[in-house]
Order: sequence, then structure tokens, then C-alpha cells
Amino acid sequence: MRSTTGLLKRTLAFSALGIIMLRVSSAYFHNSTIPAIANYFGTKGRYEEVNPYLIDDILSVNKSLSKPPSADCRAIHLTAVIRHGTRYPTTKNIKRMKRLYSLVVHESQGAYAWLRDIKHNWNMWYTEDMDGKLVEKGRDDHRHLAMRLATSFPSLISMDNFENNRIKFITSSKHRCVDSVESFQEGLHRHWDIQDKQYTHEINDTLMRFFDKCKKFVDDVENNKTALLEVDLFKASDEMKKVQKRIAERLAVPLSDMTPDMVEAAFFLCSYEFAIKTVNSPWCNMFDETDAQVLEYKNDLKQYWKRGYGHDINRKSSCSLFHDLFQRLDQAAYDHRFGLVSEVVTVQVGHAETLLPLLSLMGFFRDETPLTAANFRTQHGRTFRTSQIVPYAANLVFVLYDCNDGLRLRFLLNEKPMTFPGVDLPDPLYSTVREHYGDLLRGCNFEKECELRGANRKNTEL
Ligand SMILES: *[C@@H]1O[C@H](CO)[C@@H](O)[C@H](O)[C@H]1NC(C)=O
Ligand SMILES: *[C@@H]1O[C@H](CO)[C@@H](O)[C@H](O)[C@H]1NC(C)=O
Ligand SMILES: *[C@@H]1O[C@H](CO)[C@@H](O)[C@H](O)[C@H]1NC(C)=O
Repeated sequence: MRSTTGLLKRTLAFSALGIIMLRVSSAYFHNSTIPAIANYFGTKGRYEEVNPYLIDDILSVNKSLSKPPSADCRAIHLTAVIRHGTRYPTTKNIKRMKRLYSLVVHESQGAYAWLRDIKHNWNMWYTEDMDGKLVEKGRDDHRHLAMRLATSFPSLISMDNFENNRIKFITSSKHRCVDSVESFQEGLHRHWDIQDKQYTHEINDTLMRFFDKCKKFVDDVENNKTALLEVDLFKASDEMKKVQKRIAERLAVPLSDMTPDMVEAAFFLCSYEFAIKTVNSPWCNMFDETDAQVLEYKNDLKQYWKRGYGHDINRKSSCSLFHDLFQRLDQAAYDHRFGLVSEVVTVQVGHAETLLPLLSLMGFFRDETPLTAANFRTQHGRTFRTSQIVPYAANLVFVLYDCNDGLRLRFLLNEKPMTFPGVDLPDPLYSTVREHYGDLLRGCNFEKECELRGANRKNTEL
């Protein structure tokens, strides 16, 4: 009797401890506001994950990175090509997220605390009219980026240049881009503590949404069901099936309900809740690191075949933006030699779809082996990783310096200096860069690259 009571007491104490431990571990799990899989969100990733020092101080800049190439150098021009900030999901994804939410609420039999959390404490707050619009965090992305760039390059992004219209703003016509450029300007106002100056921008889709204007791209890739074959194959791969299976088990729903689209909707929910609200939502608990790597690869495959090296026209569609960039640099060099640079800074706001083709055209992040559905395992160390390259507010910054030995060009991606592929020394002479891209500078004709082969191609194919 005695020993039984003792055992019972011990059992009770043990299970009480078990409950406490469960609480502690789940609190631990939820405690960090950063999901463990936050580095795998691809184009839906937060900028701070690429530069973690910003988590502590969003306005901090690494001064050693904005020092001129040498003491005798003077910065004379800066062009920045920037992706819009954090945005709402598109209508298509919101619809999917709603279907997933309904599935979890009505079908899931799982017993996890985070599942109860989704069912009882989480509300489906996304509405279809949010359709891709910039969120408040997205405005902050651009305000803060503007302030950091002004701190890093004070002689170029200066109040004097701003007030005398030597800083030019160009944007894609999309709302999220226009709102981003206005937020960037607000950031500058705040940085210099000025109130009244009205600022303007120019909308130029020829430049910032070249992909819509390139007929060959639209026909051969955008509207071509087989152009993204590798993505479809990967969605049907064993790796993806295992993810579906693991998640169906965690939720305790039939495997047939957990389609790749539903898995992706859950991944999006986790990434949007984090990017928009900076919360580690219970949706993130559906994934372990392997799941996240598979989904990251799926997204990278899509970008690779639609915006990167997968098809040559993806890169070539950015020829006009490429030439525009070098014309600005040439003009600044010329102006500097013969007087005052009239356009000291150019800020251009567009999309991930604007930045990726340009980076690919210039040879950045080119892996030796193409990304395919079959080589997920061997592509672990790939350089084409959109989580690192194009998070929200991703930015390409080109700074032209006048030095004793000539003009030099620095290139920064997301505020980190990069070497041009094939040039391989930091801050090369501008003439070296021009030589390196000689073929593109002499060719890469947008009209020619983007026209369809033969006038009546569609008919002749019948
Ligand atoms: C600043 O940049 C330098 C040079 O790349 C690097 O060594 C240093 O760690 C960076 N500092 C911070 C705080 O990131
Ligand atoms: C857009 O930019 C291109 C290249 O700089 C230029 O030729 C064109 O005139 C601009 N279009 C508009 C509408 O400003
Ligand atoms: C569609 O894409 C496939 C695969 O890249 C390509 O072979 C085919 O020529 C494309 N079709 C058209 C009409 O461009």
C-alpha cells in the first residue's frame, strides 16, 4: 500500500514535471521571434536575415565598407537598383492560404500545442484585396535603407544634392514600388530633418519592368508551360513527397490533402507572418530544417528557370537596364571631367524580377552545374540562393570613384562589396569593368534579343 502510494506520488510528480517540461520547451520554441527556418524563405525573406547586425540596430552601417578604395579617391556617382520592401501576399497565394487554414481548422486531428494555437488563437486576417501591396514594414525597409545609404555615402546622398535635384528617382509603376520610392524619400527627409521639400519620381516600366516588354521572354518563358519543367518535376519528386508526408503526419490529415501547393501555402504563411509582423507564428512549427531546404530549393529552381540562367532570354531581357546603368556611369564620368555632375545619385526601384536578370546578365551567382529537379542533393552549396540575393529591399549599389590612377567602380549587393565575376579584385578600374563587359556593351540589343524569330513564327509552327 505504502509503496503503491509512493509510486503514484512519484508518477504524478513525474507527469507534472513532464507537463512543465513540455511548457518550457514549447515556450522555448516560441520564444525566439525569429523562426529557425528564416534563412530559407527565398524572395519572401526578410532583409535583416542577410545582414543580421541590423536586428540590433536597423540604422547601423559598417563604415569599413563605405570607405573609398584609397585615400586619394572621391566618390562622384551612385546608382542604386532596389527591390520594393516587404509586401502582402498576392491574391493567388492568399486564396491558397485560406484553403490551408480551413483544412487545418476542420480536418487536422494532430495534438501539438502549436496546432491548438493555430486553431484557437490564430485568425485568418489576410484578405484578397491586399494583393501584393507594400506593408508598413516594407515602408520601413526603404526608409531605413535610405538613411543607411545616406550615412555611408554622405558626399553623394547629401541634403545639397537632394535639394538641388541631383538625386533622381525612377520606379516601376506597381503600387508597392511607388510606395517604396516615396518611403525612401521620407527616410532621407528624416535623416536630414527637413519637412517641406516635395519630391518627385519618374515611372519607367521600360526600364524597371523590362520583362513585360520583352516579347521573346513572354512567349518562350512566361507563357510557355514547359519552360519551368524542372520546377514541376521537383514538385513531383521524392524529396517533395517526403515533405508532404511529414507534414500530413504532423497535422494528422490524409496525405492526399497535403498537396505541394498546400505545403507551400503553409511555408508562405510562416514567412509572411514573420516578414510582415516579425512574429514566429505557429505555422512555422510545421517545418523542420530539411523541409525548409526542399521548399527553398523549389523556389530557387523557379527563379533560376524564370529569371536566371535557365533560359538565355531571362538575362538578355535586362539589356536595356544594363545599358542604362553604364550610360549613367559614363555620363557621370564625362560630367565630372568637364564640370559638375548633374545626376549624382540615381535610385531605381523595381522587383526581384528586375534584379535577378541583371545580376545573371553580369555573371553573378552562376553555378557550374545548372539547377535541376534531379540535383537537389548536390546543389547544397550552390551560389544561386535567392534567400541571400533578393530578400525584400534587396539592393544593387554601384559607386563610381575618381582616384589618382583613374575611375574605379565599387559594387555592393545588399550593402556588402562584391567582386565582378572574372575581374576578381575589389574596386577595379572602371575601364577594366567596361572591357570585361565589352561584348555586352557593344551588343545586348533589347529590340533584337526580344523580337520573336521570324514574323509569323506561330503560324509557321502549325
Ligand atoms: C565590417 O566589414 C568588415 C570588412 O568586410 C568585416 O571584417 C567586419 O566584420 C564588418 N563588421 C560588422 C559589424 O559586420
Ligand atoms: C525610360 O528609360 C529609358 C532608358 O533610360 C528611356 O529611353 C525612356 O525614355 C524612359 N521612358 C520614360 C517614359 O521616361
Ligand atoms: C518552351 O520551352 C521549352 C523548354 O525550354 C522550349 O524547348 C520550347 O522551345 C519553348 N516553346 C516556345 C514556344 O518557345
